[in-house]
Amino acid sequence: MVPIKSLLIGTGSYVPDFVLTNQMLEELVDTNDEWIVKRTGIRERRIAKGMHTWELGVEAGRRAIEDAGVAPEEIDYIILSTCTPDTLSPTMSAIVQDKLGLKNAAAVDINACCTGFCYASDMADSFIKAGKAKTVLVISAETLHHITDYTDRGTCVLFGDGAGAAVYRAVEDGERGIISSFMAADGSGADYLYMEALPLEEDPLHSDRTYSEKNRFLKMNGSAVVRFTAAEVPRAIDEALRRANITPDQVDWVVPHQANLRILDVISKRFSIPKEKIYVNIDRFGNTSSASIPLCLDEMHKNGLLKEGQLIVCTGFGGGLTYGAFVLRV
Ligand code: COA
Repeated sequence: MVPIKSLLIGTGSYVPDFVLTNQMLEELVDTNDEWIVKRTGIRERRIAKGMHTWELGVEAGRRAIEDAGVAPEEIDYIILSTCTPDTLSPTMSAIVQDKLGLKNAAAVDINACCTGFCYASDMADSFIKAGKAKTVLVISAETLHHITDYTDRGTCVLFGDGAGAAVYRAVEDGERGIISSFMAADGSGADYLYMEALPLEEDPLHSDRTYSEKNRFLKMNGSAVVRFTAAEVPRAIDEALRRANITPDQVDWVVPHQANLRILDVISKRFSIPKEKIYVNIDRFGNTSSASIPLCLDEMHKNGLLKEGQLIVCTGFGGGLTYGAFVLRV
């Protein structure tokens, strides 16, 4: 039997027009452009004013389908990753299914926080390899402004909104497609990135249910997250490379989740991969959680940086804590 692989056949992305610069943040909190650029590499980020998360997802999905050149009815699964859904019911993926007329597609949302695109791609690959789907649309759509406290300088400088998407298709050519993956979690670090969805209620029947707005904002232990990523992201890459039976020198691009610049140094030093091979756009979009990797992939694709046959390692990390990596031959 010919082994089936999940080939990346299309990418798409969407970012809202409104640009929030470091200078604008100086007006909101006690910070400055120099500090933000030096510590994070971020110069600006986009904010989806008056837009739903699903709207970003629909646009990114539409563009990925067009890029893939497939008919809407060929999509048989939508996996949408988000930690900022507009509603818990309906799911974002069901809305996308309707808006894009994907009438043959099953639709499911997943939340693996910033590792969401890696998990969703791994799931798409599993569905394809199991013969349960032939053409899968993966979308990561996030409006992090909803969970960002614009009075907390430790977090509000980091996050932005955006969406990215990818279409994977079953192929039998044996060489190209998702080659390996490694997904993991360590819930012992749950408190390092924390935001409430539904609050704990001792007595729901008699509660006045006036929840504090502040509870929905993301709280972060930044240095603990840095330590975690420095230790676990290399491990995830190691394992994905080992499973793909390739060595770091064979890698053409590393596409990391765009959370902080320090991870670049860690990856570059640990694997002796030149920094030019690690894709970065954090300066323009900040941390867009699960959307950041597909945003990068789409930008690389549009700029002609992805050449057929190249080996790409995508690696994500974030809330949960979750982390993972997958190797893709484009
Ligand atoms: N502007 C100016 N000063 C700031 C600031 C800001 N935006 N944010 C924090 N500071 C201050 C702190 O208050 C602290 O001041 P103090 O020394 O007087 O107490 C000082 O800068 C150092 O704070 P610290 O938190 O130790 O900074 P840091 O070097 O760890 O950098 C991050 C902060 C957020 C950039 C860094 O922790 C980071 O990149 N964390 C990981 C983020 C991440 O990956 N998150 C998401 C994962 S999905």
